[in-house]
Amino acid sequence: MKISQSSPLYLLCLISLITNTNSTTPLHPAASQLSNAQNTQEIVTGHRPKRPDKEGVYNVSKDLCWGCISEALEYLFAHNWIRAQKLEMPLIWDSQLEKYARSWAIQRKSDCSLQHSFPEGNFKLGENIYWGSGTSWEPTDAVNAWASEEKFYSYATNTCQAGKECGHYTQIVWRNTRRIGCARVECDDGDVFMNCNYGPPGNIIGERPY
Ligand SMILES: *[C@@H]1O[C@H](CO)[C@@H](O)[C@H](O)[C@H]1NC(C)=O
Repeated sequence: MKISQSSPLYLLCLISLITNTNSTTPLHPAASQLSNAQNTQEIVTGHRPKRPDKEGVYNVSKDLCWGCISEALEYLFAHNWIRAQKLEMPLIWDSQLEKYARSWAIQRKSDCSLQHSFPEGNFKLGENIYWGSGTSWEPTDAVNAWASEEKFYSYATNTCQAGKECGHYTQIVWRNTRRIGCARVECDDGDVFMNCNYGPPGNIIGERPY
């Protein structure tokens, strides 16, 4: 069944995610104050506050990944799980973006070169790329590697630690990004190239991701 983005089911998915994340401890500084009252009971009774619900985020991702093969769902869930930590809306899988990502991945099959599809300074879409030695690397490995840049990012000053890269992480959690499509290719030399494209693109200079 094909569902448009504005259909009730889609809205229901978003609402259910919001409902699920309401009972969590948000990492967002502004949101954590809001949740203090809610969490008081749990602190008093000695229960640990609930984290974002993995199964709930997985279910929502599945609903936003119509006709997906398992690789696509793995990419989407990994992204939405990281976004859920910041109370961000889940991304929607986009078969056009997937097609674009796949066409670039196929071009990298012969060289496995860690190379963007857009010239520097002229990105039409957000784009994260990954290279791994050997064939064992899966979509979750790529997304986690990108997301691990969080430790270098300062929300307070909206800057990245000197000499470090944060852009892959900030693209993943970019609030205004809605859609994603990714690909994975095992290169001729036995290594892996993975890439994701995002729309609308994040990492607008001077803006915070969330
Ligand atoms: C996720 O979906 C499964 C299968 O439909 C269901 O049994 C489960 O209750 C759902 N979990 C959440 C947290 O929505």
